[in-house]
Amino acid sequence: MIEDLINDKDIYFPSYIGTNDKLITLLNRASQTLCDWFSKADKNGPLPFDDNFKCIMPEEDGNSEEDLFSDIESLLNNSFNPVHPGSLAHLDPPPLIFSILGDLIAAGLNNNLLAYELSPSVTLLEESLCKWFAKKIGFNDFSGGIAASGGTLSNLNALIAARNNAGLGSNSNSVLIVSEDAHSSFIKCIRIMGLDATNLVRIKTDNQGRMDINNLRKSIDKCLIENKKIFAIVATLGTTVRGAIDPIKEISEICNERNIWLHIDGSIGGIFAITSIPIEGLNYINQANSITINPQKIIGITKTSSLLLVSNMTTLKNTFSTGLPYISSKEDITNRGELGIQGSRPAEVIKLWLGLRFLGLHGIEDILKSSVKRKDFFIENIDNNKFEIYSGPLHIVSFLPKGLTTKDTDFWTQTKVNELMKNNFMLSRPMFKGKYLLRVVMGNYNTNYSHIKDLLKFLNAYQ
Ligand SMILES: Cc1ncc(COP(=O)(O)O)c(C=O)c1O
Repeated sequence: MIEDLINDKDIYFPSYIGTNDKLITLLNRASQTLCDWFSKADKNGPLPFDDNFKCIMPEEDGNSEEDLFSDIESLLNNSFNPVHPGSLAHLDPPPLIFSILGDLIAAGLNNNLLAYELSPSVTLLEESLCKWFAKKIGFNDFSGGIAASGGTLSNLNALIAARNNAGLGSNSNSVLIVSEDAHSSFIKCIRIMGLDATNLVRIKTDNQGRMDINNLRKSIDKCLIENKKIFAIVATLGTTVRGAIDPIKEISEICNERNIWLHIDGSIGGIFAITSIPIEGLNYINQANSITINPQKIIGITKTSSLLLVSNMTTLKNTFSTGLPYISSKEDITNRGELGIQGSRPAEVIKLWLGLRFLGLHGIEDILKSSVKRKDFFIENIDNNKFEIYSGPLHIVSFLPKGLTTKDTDFWTQTKVNELMKNNFMLSRPMFKGKYLLRVVMGNYNTNYSHIKDLLKFLNAYQ
């Protein structure tokens, strides 16, 4: 008899999933733990870390709830804390409430954006949200996009599509043009694409950190003389060290004249384009073939929430579509695993969508304006007899003391970073054109004027 052979205890483990009551109890406890951690931010500073921190690995038997909550607390207590008002080092602002909830729901759903049958509602949500963004920045009806885990991947998706669109495949003469201040991940993109440093042409920037157009024209001519094939030019909308914006209008005209794919790396500044904040060049971004927008970097959407928007979705389909032989498909719906590099992807677009719905366009604009205002206040009040300032229209400022040798600047910046950290201000120390600078990123909406004044006291005291 078949009944004699079967025993549910070998195959059935409902206790691993838990009852709803259990889940609610644990979610409540986890929420409490997280909120306690947020509220301890002031006491512990932006980057508490104990050198005795241990990572405990899985053991023969599963651990108890008590053990696991103790592990969670230990992780939290040794983590960078983005809600601390002195967290001003990087592009990692405090998380929005509804974005945290979106992450939770996405984890519970555990849907897969690989295919429509594994994520019907979220597939449509991602498609609609990309189209909404694309329309907002002025793309037409053929446009759309795809979410990816971060700016690097969104840029890489774009560059692979650009090269495919140019019919260059693995042609070793292919060239990508970026500015010398473009993000370092373009080096990684080039390597992944089977190319090397000689395939990445870096154009000098002007004294505002923007790609120099004369230099760009000369470099394009040189590439043509050398029989190199340019598959894309990247304009950066918000450089990492100073928030500069390349001259998008001029670059788009050149791309148009020469029939070259224009990609805009708007990882930092792209989100400004859906607001009415007047920033030069934003009106022309719809001239691009593709643009990366990465709201995790500035408006508090939790990581990761990067989008690649393209003016023509066919370019992504032609590049990435392979067919998914093990998936049932619907004729009128594209499985989103066929629009980019990633296959399985979490439903993380939910946190972007919920975060944006929670803020509304006015909330987004308020956050962006307040970030720029904090930066303006900082620049107006830092002693500019003592410091050389590098900044642009966005919310990032880098600076260094005037008149020091490179060696002394390196020493000063390191000493200052340590001293500021002891006083609960976390700044970054980027290497820029052979020198270390100090950088403040003013995207933390828990930072108020009095925090900035305190920070300035430490800086302006420099003799
Ligand atoms: C301008 C720019 N582009 C791309 C990236 C890479 O983004 P991600 O770290 O999300 O991959 C960064 C990261 O800071 C950036 O500043």
